[in-house]
Amino acid sequence: MSAETRITELRTEGEAAVAAAQNTAALEEVRVQFLGRRAELPNLLRGVAELPPERRGAVGKAANEARRALEALIEARAGQLAISERNARLEQDRVDITLPADPLPAAGRLHLITQTRREIEDVFIGLGFNVAEGPEVETVHYNFDALNHDPLHPARAWTDTFYLTPDVLLRTHTSPMQIRAMERQPPPLYIIVPGRVYRRDSDVTHTPQFHQIEGLAVDEGITLADLKGTLLAFARAIFGSEREVRLRPHFFPFTEPSVEVDVSCFNCSGGLTASAERCGICKGTGWLEILGSGMVDPNVLLQVAGGGYDPEVVQGFAFGMGIERIAMLKHGVSDLRLFYDNDLRFLEQFP
Ligand code: PHE
Repeated sequence: MSAETRITELRTEGEAAVAAAQNTAALEEVRVQFLGRRAELPNLLRGVAELPPERRGAVGKAANEARRALEALIEARAGQLAISERNARLEQDRVDITLPADPLPAAGRLHLITQTRREIEDVFIGLGFNVAEGPEVETVHYNFDALNHDPLHPARAWTDTFYLTPDVLLRTHTSPMQIRAMERQPPPLYIIVPGRVYRRDSDVTHTPQFHQIEGLAVDEGITLADLKGTLLAFARAIFGSEREVRLRPHFFPFTEPSVEVDVSCFNCSGGLTASAERCGICKGTGWLEILGSGMVDPNVLLQVAGGGYDPEVVQGFAFGMGIERIAMLKHGVSDLRLFYDNDLRFLEQFP
């Protein structure tokens, strides 16, 4: 067989092998088989020098042409295979992002304290009050002194109150915002102040941190009747339209007179339930204590007299309630600490 014939054969075989290669690895084997260092065609090319001179030109030309043709064919095929292999990988890796998550994520809910705070805020906003907030880190001046506390008042003791320095503490009530709000704007003033407060106390009915809502109204001609009417509207909105309120004398340093306010029990009538048993919510008294309040003490107004709060001209009432206490009464929660345990079995009962 002449060298040219063998070259043509190899070229044809090579072309068929390239066409048959279905992936990059198979194509690489074809390249080694036909163009590799020990393959027949390159060998033939290397042997051209040993041929008789008149044969060298024709054989060399044929072998070179065959090699270049196979090289070009392999390059072209390699390009095609690379594209189809990449497409196949992309297809395989595709993620269907339209599939719904499984299981559906649980919807969250507002904590009962947040729900109760918002409910109370809504009632007072409806009565014309604005919502204000103040610092939880307070000075002794705003927390006690400006609110007319006696220098020996027991709440000032370090055993009752968290002090950061002798003059700075975690507020023990939201009442310091009474002074801050009056310093900020002249009367008439109608605000409520929700927020966290802190006391060194911990048992079934006390946690070191809890929530209050303060109320303050200062205007000309405000009387105790305005206080009672406002709190009656509040009690009926929160505990039901049949409720009554009663005021009992009490003492707070910053109100005079001071009262504690009770709302008639929503669970019984006069302390007895429908089945004539002693009511567990009001302990058979027929009344629930809901907050402390009173008429703003003239000494408190004198703290900010320059700002338009002359006690000869304006009067005010103030009140402060515990949000946890309102929520416990309304929903029959027996242990204050349930609010802070983050137990879903409790939290999920208040959607
Ligand atoms: N600050 C009082 C307390 O925490 C409550 C209160 C507020 C009483 C306003 C009277 C007026 O106990």
